[in-house]
Amino acid sequence: MSELSVEHLLGIKYLKPNDIDVIFKTADHFKEVINRPIKKVPSLRDITIANLFFENSTRTKLSFELAEKRLSADVINFSAGQSSVKKGETLIDTVNNILAMKVDIVVMRHGNVGAGVFLSKHVDAKIINAGDGTHEHPTQALLDSYSIREKLGTVKGKKIVIVGDILHSRVALSNIFALQLQGAEVKVCGPTTLIPKHIASLGVKVETNLKKALEWCDVANVLRVQHERMDLKYFPSTREYTQLFGINQDILDNLGKKIVIMHPGPINRGVEITSDVADSNDSIILNQVENGVAVRMAVIYLLAQQIKR
Ligand code: NCD
Repeated sequence: MSELSVEHLLGIKYLKPNDIDVIFKTADHFKEVINRPIKKVPSLRDITIANLFFENSTRTKLSFELAEKRLSADVINFSAGQSSVKKGETLIDTVNNILAMKVDIVVMRHGNVGAGVFLSKHVDAKIINAGDGTHEHPTQALLDSYSIREKLGTVKGKKIVIVGDILHSRVALSNIFALQLQGAEVKVCGPTTLIPKHIASLGVKVETNLKKALEWCDVANVLRVQHERMDLKYFPSTREYTQLFGINQDILDNLGKKIVIMHPGPINRGVEITSDVADSNDSIILNQVENGVAVRMAVIYLLAQQIKR
């Protein structure tokens, strides 16, 4: 089957294994396109896309915008900071006003969990969730799995450890769903205060010893501590966090094997990962960024095929 089973991309939890196969096969094609001298196809010349970012973003926003432009869609951008949201407008009013300008697809990042699902029930456009609070970030998880597949040949049967602030991370949850859907084994590693109490119910094991977690895995996906989402103190100091959960070259050299290092960005160099590791040959951090454009092109292209034209 070459079609998606969903009408929107709201979260990985709504996808089936075949959806991931279809997205990856389509992304393979677009990856070839973006490496041509002319990095553009005319596929979505009749489609208009609005990027609505109610929360800060660098990579994700640029990556979506570039993906849309490489597909020849018309693109409008909106950042909450400079908008009438500050004047008290509701989310649905803001979005309906944008849709009145004949927008087909909305890419939205929002601080509230479920914002994308809510929007999909109230407005007449395709919705792509670009991160909803601490909940899901589906395109990040797709590009992460795509990058593992590219580096190791397959995701199936691989052992992945997600290290860091699991509690506040939408990247962690979407990765857990995506990796399990493809038959990978997932562990999380971090301070117990930053691991959700019910994580075991997702079939994920917890390892609080970083060295043991790294010895076990094929891939370590390293996350930033999300200070902006914390209203409490979850660990004594950044220095202690780095001593216990920071990845440096010494730890990796003592594993007796190579592992793949990933990070969704933004990196806090010297906190969760040292610069030499982030910039080493074992790191696929910049491949993740490159693959993000191809994977987002695939998601947008596949959803646009469902729009009656
Ligand atoms: C992540 C996010 O915003 O959820 N970054 C990203 O999208 N590349 C992770 C983070 O902010 O730490």
